[in-house]
Amino acid sequence: MSESLHPRAMGTARERVDGWAKVTGTAPYAYEHRVPDPAYLHPVQSTVARGRVTEVDARAATALDGVLTVLTPFNAPRLRRDADPELAVLQSDEVWFRGQLVAAVVAETPEIARQAADLVRVAYEVRPHDVTLSADRADLYKPDVVNPKHPTDTLTGDPDTAFASASRAVDATYTTAMYHNNPMEPHTTVALWHGGNASPALTLYDSTQGVHPLRDAVAALFELSPDRIRVVSPYVGGGFGSKGMPHAHVALTALAATRVEGRAVKFAVTRQQMFSFVGYRTPTIQRMRLAADADGRLTGISNDVVELTSRYKEFAEQTGLPTRTMYAAPHRRTTHRLAALDLSVPSWMRAPGECPGMFAPEVAMDELAEACGLDPIELRIRNEPERDPESGMPYSTRNFVACLTEGARWFGWDSRPRLPRSTLDGDWWVGTGVAGSTYPVLRRPGSAWASVRYRADADRGRYEVSIGAADLGTGAWTVLTQIAADALDVSPDDIEVRIGDSDLPRAPVAGGSSGTTNWGSAVVAAARRFRDKYGFTPTDGDEFAATMPDDGHAERFAMAAYGAQFAEVRVNVYTGEIRVPRLLGVFAVGRVINPRTARSQLVGGMTMGLSMALHETSVLDERLGFVVNHDLAEYHIATCADVPSVEARWIAEEDPYPNPMGSKGIGEIGIVGTAAAIANAVYHATGIRVRDLPITNDKVFEPALVV
Ligand code: MOS
Repeated sequence: MSESLHPRAMGTARERVDGWAKVTGTAPYAYEHRVPDPAYLHPVQSTVARGRVTEVDARAATALDGVLTVLTPFNAPRLRRDADPELAVLQSDEVWFRGQLVAAVVAETPEIARQAADLVRVAYEVRPHDVTLSADRADLYKPDVVNPKHPTDTLTGDPDTAFASASRAVDATYTTAMYHNNPMEPHTTVALWHGGNASPALTLYDSTQGVHPLRDAVAALFELSPDRIRVVSPYVGGGFGSKGMPHAHVALTALAATRVEGRAVKFAVTRQQMFSFVGYRTPTIQRMRLAADADGRLTGISNDVVELTSRYKEFAEQTGLPTRTMYAAPHRRTTHRLAALDLSVPSWMRAPGECPGMFAPEVAMDELAEACGLDPIELRIRNEPERDPESGMPYSTRNFVACLTEGARWFGWDSRPRLPRSTLDGDWWVGTGVAGSTYPVLRRPGSAWASVRYRADADRGRYEVSIGAADLGTGAWTVLTQIAADALDVSPDDIEVRIGDSDLPRAPVAGGSSGTTNWGSAVVAAARRFRDKYGFTPTDGDEFAATMPDDGHAERFAMAAYGAQFAEVRVNVYTGEIRVPRLLGVFAVGRVINPRTARSQLVGGMTMGLSMALHETSVLDERLGFVVNHDLAEYHIATCADVPSVEARWIAEEDPYPNPMGSKGIGEIGIVGTAAAIANAVYHATGIRVRDLPITNDKVFEPALVV
């Protein structure tokens, strides 16, 4: 067990360090960094979903005043031959999906670039495409691993026999939609090649969740040593995973900028373009089976998942993971099968795996509770595992039951009618639902480095704490300040955190809810080593860098955060309109380092879960092979009017094992289980079981709703 920190700054609701810069508009986002005399890129996207580019006629575009260059698959500079196929832009004439980047114009102004891009004529040899996901496709295949490298299938015991002999059972198919990430700040890259032997050779201002992972990917693409590239990204307007891995626009901008060496090229991806090439959440089809004895004790549990990937690159979402770990049952199975389609490659979206993968089991548990005549909270408590069912390891802490019972008290669960369709309030059926939530503690000792440096002459911020971390709006600037203050045993005012630059010590991606664990542990290690070496009377310029030590805890304990999501819904008798007047999430997430920023993360996740449950869906036109509702007018994301009350609470949890701060990740767990809680509440309100997200009016509307 690592020595825990004595919390003083940690646990306080400190205002955001970056708040002032943001509200005064002085925090530079990727597009806003000042570069002299920039040029602007606008891409040309394929209008067919599969085929080959046979010709690009750029004469009209090139003739336009202010156009600097037009890149095509036939004239673009060559990238490394075995480049990541997602990043190998303009390297071949193949078209893998509609919306692919097939040419680009660089011009003196964004307007000229856009106009010129419209004038580029692309001819294709068109081949038939296939974008239809279904569970009975003959060509479904088994990937080698699921994201990032979990086993594809798991099997314990003999679930089929358990299902056949169960006294109570659920066997149903649940589906989740395709969803697109829409952070407030669209993706942007600004690329500047400095020319000659300058160092760095290339500077990138990019909206990214990780300056070092981005730097390394671009370095590989251009066969450069990573230290010849600098990535700057101090402020990011959200990412949710879509900025976690570099996508094609980064490669295209860097490639185009080679044509105008010495000038920066800016590519601000438009909202519509974000629906084409920055990743999305795969739709899932989950056949979920539960077997239980008459007392509701699970004997078997399985989830057989079908989802999609692209033909040119594989991304296999780990949807079966929650089924592996959430509940005790002797007989268990999970499988993942993929359809490789003519679509762009899916990627990370807030809680990949856990988020869609909790929808099926948590609705199925609600169905099982009814089959057993048990309260759904009681059913979950009866199936609480003593050790992690997947690994057999003890939990560092697992306070799921406390989340359920405390949540029930705060939410007023006891007054809930047992039968569905029991409460009519005017024109509205009213119901409540509950679902469980979990997200693993991901940690990579040695992955992050931090340095502490002392500046004697500073009035504030005498301790400069540097790490290449990313703050997506989550609060990293602030919590790293608090962690450093406690680790150095000084006031937060004595700390100046520096993040978001690849010239700073190496740090892993802000992803998997692991940022604070990896970065914070490095900060603590550096602070301790600094104090060991220099004591409390350092002199100007004293500095120490360190990384999170490998404590081996992950080999001894199963570590995860837990939560219970409660929802109240109202369904209109005449229209099927669904409202959610109340959401309550109760979480067990270790020590909360900053209640203010943590609450925002949890409430944000829950709101995104509500949006997933009721509103969001990427509508794929199978004839054309692309998402037709590709803007925020038609891809509806929950707004304030959709979320009257979203409340996040947490229970006191002491866990010394995840990291020296005692915290667990909070970025993603808020979205996990929310959609199931809402679906369960819709059932309780109406008696109509919807197993297919999003839950739109048409799925609950039936004449029978009318009294
Ligand atoms: Mo998150 S989807 O791990 O960036």
